[in-house]
Amino acid sequence: MTGKNIPVLQTVGLTKVFKDFWRRDKVEAVKNLNLEIYRGEVFGLLGPNGSGKSTAIKMLLGLLYPTRGQIAVFGRAPTDVAIKARIGFLPEESYLYRFLNARETLDYYGRLFHLPARVRRERIEKLLDMVGLRHEARRRLGEYSKGMARRIGLAQALINDPDFLILDEPTAGMDPIGTRQIKDLIRQLGDRGKTILLSSHLLADVEDVCDRVVILYGGHQRAAGRVRELLSQEDRTQIITQKLGPQTIERIRDLIRRDEAKDVLDVSSPAQKLETIFLQIVEEAQAANIATSGARAAGATPDFLGTGDAGEDVVTELIEAAQTPPTPEPEEPAPVVPAKAAPADDVIEELVAEAAPTDPALTGSPDEEPDATPRKQVGADRGVIDSLLTDDKETNSSD
Ligand SMILES: Nc1ncnc2c1ncn2[C@@H]1O[C@H](COP(=O)(O)OP(=O)(O)OP(=O)(O)O)[C@@H](O)[C@H]1O
Ligand SMILES: [Mg+2]
Repeated sequence: MTGKNIPVLQTVGLTKVFKDFWRRDKVEAVKNLNLEIYRGEVFGLLGPNGSGKSTAIKMLLGLLYPTRGQIAVFGRAPTDVAIKARIGFLPEESYLYRFLNARETLDYYGRLFHLPARVRRERIEKLLDMVGLRHEARRRLGEYSKGMARRIGLAQALINDPDFLILDEPTAGMDPIGTRQIKDLIRQLGDRGKTILLSSHLLADVEDVCDRVVILYGGHQRAAGRVRELLSQEDRTQIITQKLGPQTIERIRDLIRRDEAKDVLDVSSPAQKLETIFLQIVEEAQAANIATSGARAAGATPDFLGTGDAGEDVVTELIEAAQTPPTPEPEEPAPVVPAKAAPADDVIEELVAEAAPTDPALTGSPDEEPDATPRKQVGADRGVIDSLLTDDKETNSSD
């Protein structure tokens, strides 16, 4: 087996049924989902509201237990703390502490990942620059607009330089220029060898950045495949040229009729995308230094986010990840999401205590069901995933 065949994420028969108060099945949010995502891929979970995208993501992160099915992330169970440091997560709802400013927020998350102060400082400035918020970094997040909060959420998801980035509706609330920047960033990170899973119901976003997608409806996987293949119209040919005169068009029509016995279906000037015009106008305003207290033009993608080692052997990495005991053991159980208290010694801790989230789904405690006891994943019978999970258990037991 070669390394290229080991996915960063694999699910087999993944199913989530939410129960009502009487433990009767209420909603089958995700049904029999089979995903395989490989290193360097940008993968899209596409579906309308309520189709199960966020529920699937929460299971991949170990925040919800599956009702049935199996999951392996870097060859381990999603609840394994050893993989948390390799994952960056942007949840769909804002979970940021309103009383912290942008720098304090990023510093807090940097501490959860035990990053040294110097590394935190460097990364924070680069990330603030990247998301265009350096000038607004002293303002409390409670004052931020929705899109600005989304930007800082994205910076937070990148503070640990994750190998696997999971973004739930990354462009929700973003203006078109922010959307473009986020899409460019996602592509760049993919090109640098990061693996990215994003969910969206915005078709243009997914179309622009994803290599492969699954389309969910009612929790079911309705279609899956490479974006280009799903979109290409095999029974059409498009030729784009400089503007042609009517006589030339008529001659082309004749030629096609004669040689191919087919008709020209449409002759038109391609329309510019509204997105292109909008970006042009905003970029002109930014170049003219017109005042704003919103987000600015995004800066460069920080060099610490991947070093172009996409060709590195994935097997070695996965095997090492599965065999290396998780030392040093992070003090926090799940740094992917806000934990109750920072290991800190300063103002941040007080502020955090004041603003600590009450929603158990955001505090890292799995599942929301009344008798939610950690259950072993059961169900589908697939050799690869079983062996991955078995390796994992052995490693853990020897820890
Ligand atoms: N904690 C819960 N308890 C009961 N039902 C839930 C819970 N969370 C989600 N659901 C249900 O599961 C289904 C899928 O919801 P989910 O949030 O995964 O959808 P989504 O695809 O992320 O939608 P959106 O695009 O609106 O974010 C919905 O019917 C939803 O009502
Ligand atoms: Mg959702």
